[in-house]
Amino acid sequence: MKNVVGQVVRKADFWQRKFELEDMWDAINSGSHLLLCAPRRVGKTSLMHKILDEPQDNYIPIYIDTESADSQAEFWKKIFNALTEEKFTSSLKNKAQLFADWLKGIKITSISIEGVEFGDGDVLDYKVAFKRLIKDLEQDKKLIIMIDEFAQTIENIIQYQDVQNALSLLKAHRELRQDTEFSQKVTFVYAGSIGLESVVAKIGASKHINDLNSIKVSPLIRAEAQQFVESLFANLSITSTAEVTNYLLDQIDWLIPFYIQLIVQEIKKLYRRAPNLDNSVVDQAINNALDNRNHFESWQSKLKTGLEKDEYLFAKEVLNKISNDTFINSLDINNMASKHKLDENNARENIQSLVYDGYINNNDDSKIYKFNSPILRMWWNKNVAN
Ligand SMILES: Nc1ncnc2c1ncn2[C@@H]1O[C@H](COP(=O)(O)OP(=O)(O)OP(=O)(O)O)[C@@H](O)[C@H]1O
Ligand SMILES: [Mg+2]
Repeated sequence: MKNVVGQVVRKADFWQRKFELEDMWDAINSGSHLLLCAPRRVGKTSLMHKILDEPQDNYIPIYIDTESADSQAEFWKKIFNALTEEKFTSSLKNKAQLFADWLKGIKITSISIEGVEFGDGDVLDYKVAFKRLIKDLEQDKKLIIMIDEFAQTIENIIQYQDVQNALSLLKAHRELRQDTEFSQKVTFVYAGSIGLESVVAKIGASKHINDLNSIKVSPLIRAEAQQFVESLFANLSITSTAEVTNYLLDQIDWLIPFYIQLIVQEIKKLYRRAPNLDNSVVDQAINNALDNRNHFESWQSKLKTGLEKDEYLFAKEVLNKISNDTFINSLDINNMASKHKLDENNARENIQSLVYDGYINNNDDSKIYKFNSPILRMWWNKNVAN
């Protein structure tokens, strides 16, 4: 297992996520469509690649990232292209030959605002065209279509096209999922680094996704994280003690594989120069990790692009305060909301999105919010708040 920091992890580099994979396969086998819920960097894309690399029998998985789609037509183009391109059709060899032959024979002339135009001159709306595409899938096979960055796509469509098209896409998907015959052939798995729930709530479209089976991807539990660290250390020939490993886990606290990999990478750099690992080296490694601006900046930039000006300034002030004091209470939140002229509902929604998107939680006391990750808190404090 290599120490991978940032890229999708696959094959031998994937640290087992037994519970999440079992949750996902149970939901898939029960016939549900899935929404993979987890904040940024928790490991959603890697989990989807695990399904892609090691599917159960009779399932045909495909992974599609739709982040760069800014319109409905562009979204569907990505889906149709992925299903008809050689890379996918050749992977069907010996598994679903009939389907592969059918896909290879399909000619799509254009995908535009009008819908999908086939080589035979038929122009069908996206949903009908999509049904036509999968019609020849073998009876005993099921497609798992994993759509990554779906919420970002919806947000792009709202911003660069219009709300109507975003609603129409959400509705089309809902209708496909409600179609029993279709659902026997296809399972959708949606994921993204921003919360789909909060994006659709903003346009009053929660009802279009309330049929999805939400699978929560949590941080590693302590025992798993400990084994993960030990395994990374062993591979990097770093000698640690139980005390130092525990100290490291205490400092990271929100035990997502990404932060573990990031800090271990910094430890390795220090260890290479002075092969001795104690708590102060861990502190130094964390400090050095915070200088990797590109690993953290999206936490701030996504707020900037996803929120209105007043909402952004409010969210930033809330996070600044938590990063200074380690917590914020409801009274301070209300005062900040009035300062930025946000009404109570709007402020509550904003705080909810910060919770959904993995910035903060109020798990210990409903009136007190803290950062999930002390690492992110330190970064925010150093680079945004001060
Ligand atoms: N199962 C895993 N085993 C080892 N490392 C992992 C695992 N999952 C995630 N990571 C670490 O976290 C990083 C991010 O993983 P991934 O891209 O899968 O997360 P994500 O939730 O899709 O992130 P984003 O929200 O930014 O799209 C990886 O580069 C790797 O360092
Ligand atoms: Mg991802």
